[in-house]
Amino acid sequence: MKKMLLSLTALALLGSTAQARTWADIQKSGTIKIATEGAFPPFNLMKGKTPTGFEVELAEILAKQLGLKVQWTTQPFDSLLIGLNQDRYDFVIASHGITPERQKAVDFSNPHYCTGGAIVTRPGGPLTAKALSGKTVAVQVGTTYLENVRKVPGVRDVKTFPKDTDAQAALMAGRVDAWVGDKFTGLDLIKAQKGKVVQGELLFREKIGMAVKKGNTTLLKTLNTALAKAQADGSYAKLSQRYFGEDVRCR
Ligand code: ARG
Repeated sequence: MKKMLLSLTALALLGSTAQARTWADIQKSGTIKIATEGAFPPFNLMKGKTPTGFEVELAEILAKQLGLKVQWTTQPFDSLLIGLNQDRYDFVIASHGITPERQKAVDFSNPHYCTGGAIVTRPGGPLTAKALSGKTVAVQVGTTYLENVRKVPGVRDVKTFPKDTDAQAALMAGRVDAWVGDKFTGLDLIKAQKGKVVQGELLFREKIGMAVKKGNTTLLKTLNTALAKAQADGSYAKLSQRYFGEDVRCR
């Protein structure tokens, strides 16, 4: 917890004095620069050298609607908001839960989906927060999963991994008792592993948003309008159905 608070404070301070590109700047250039991780299926992942996934396709729908080309950057999850504050790209779409801590460092769009952090374990393993007592849990570093698992009383050890897929692999290899991750990611893992893992209860719910540099209100407004349009014209619903078989927007 302490480490995380520190790094987010550092992040807030890092907010460079340089100007982020406003919506007018971006529009004039014709290209919007977007960053994601590319290792968080089905939301953002790599297909060869090309990013794809629900969030990548959603961002591309928004960009197309705005008449812009997209330049993607992929980098480790825990450095995405730092790069944003250094003006390396215009916004980040990487399944960031909208939390008060992060809101000190960046501004978030309206949520582009709603989800929760779920416990996933091998059959016979802990399925509830209570059952995590005395257990070892794997989570991706810098995430809301880490923050929330730390709040569960009695957890013996929380092991952090740079990538969520590494945390999943630790569960599969039997090196931890449970993995806490996104509920939709969990469902995909269960499908892929055919009965070797099971989903337990949701530890918490969260709203996921796109992050812009603090104070970049023109870009934030544009993204919110574009998202609302995609949610009204059926393109969001169609995309969501294809990835999840349901509409994952917040209601
Ligand atoms: N939703 C979680 C959070 O807000 C996890 C996000 C992880 N995203 C990723 N691209 N690995 O921290």
